[in-house]
Amino acid sequence: MVPLDASTPKRLSDAMLHSLHAGGKRIRPVMLLGISDTGNGSRDPVPAAVAIECLHTYSLIHDDLPSMDDSVLRRGVPTCHIAFDEATAVLAGDALLTLAFEILSTHYANEPQIANRLVMELSRAAGSARLVGGQMDDILLERLEGETVEMDRVFNIEDNKTGALFCACLRMGLILSDAHADQLDLASKLGIVIGRSFQIVDDILDEVGDEAMVGKSLQADIRNKKTTAVTHFGISGAREEVNRLHHLGLQLCEKLDMDTKFLQNLLLYLKNRVY
Ligand code: IPE
Ligand code: IPE
Ligand code: MG
Ligand code: MG
Ligand code: MG
Repeated sequence: MVPLDASTPKRLSDAMLHSLHAGGKRIRPVMLLGISDTGNGSRDPVPAAVAIECLHTYSLIHDDLPSMDDSVLRRGVPTCHIAFDEATAVLAGDALLTLAFEILSTHYANEPQIANRLVMELSRAAGSARLVGGQMDDILLERLEGETVEMDRVFNIEDNKTGALFCACLRMGLILSDAHADQLDLASKLGIVIGRSFQIVDDILDEVGDEAMVGKSLQADIRNKKTTAVTHFGISGAREEVNRLHHLGLQLCEKLDMDTKFLQNLLLYLKNRVY
C-alpha cells in the first residue's frame, strides 16, 4: 500500500512501517475519503488519504520522542524510538513526512494544478505556522509550569497542532471533487471545530482513559503539568464543551450543501469515542 523506494535501508522502512502498520483509527484518511465525491471515478482520492496518514504518523513518532512527550506506547505497540532507537525514530518520521509529498506529487502528476493545490494544502497545514508551530507552542506552554495560562492560548495551540490537519483532510477531499470556494471555507471552519473537539476528547482520555484500550501512554499531560481543557474546565466542563462543538459541527455540515450523512456519523463517533 505504501510505495517505499526499494533502496530504502531496511531498518528505516521497518521503523516507518512499524508505526504506520500498527493501526490507529485512520480518522484523517477516512474523513478525506468521506467528504470527497469523485463520482465519475476520474480521480482516486486514496493516494491523498495515504499521504495524510503518512504525515500524521510522522507527527506522532516525533511527538512521542523523549525530547517531546516521552511516550513509550503508541497504537498498542512500543513507540518507534522504543522499538528501534531515537535516531531511527527521527529519521522514520522525516521519511514519512517526505513520503507524503512524494505520494501527492507522483499520483496526481497528470493534473499538475490539482497536485499543486494538494501539496500546498498539506504543506501549509503541516508547517511552521500550523502543526509544527502548534507543537512548538505546546512545548513552550509546558515550560510555563505554575503560571496561569489563558484558555484562548491553549485553544490556539490545539487549532494548530491538531485542527490544521483536519482542515487539510476536508479541503483536500473537496479539492479532489472540484468543490467551490464557499465549501472550502466551510471545510476550514469545520476542521477547526472537529480538531478542537477531538483534542479535548484526547485530553479527557489522557486523564481518565484506559491505557490498554486507548493503546498509547496516558497521563502525559499531568506528567508534563500541561494546561488543557480538562485542567481548565474539569472533566464534565470539558465534555460540555465537546457537546457544544458537536452541535456547531453539525450546523456547519448542513451548510456544506452536499450529502454529509457520513461526516455527521463520524462526528458522533468522535464525540463518544473511548480510544
Ligand atoms: C493522536 O491522533 C494525536 C492527536 C491529535 C490527539 P489520533 O488519536 O488520531 O491517533 P491514531 O492515528 O488513532 O493513532
Ligand atoms: C499531539 O498531541 C498532536 C500532534 C502529534 C501534532 P498530543 O501529544 O496530545 O497527542 P497524543 O496524546 O500523544 O496522541
Ligand atoms: Mg504532544
Ligand atoms: Mg503526545
Ligand atoms: Mg494527548
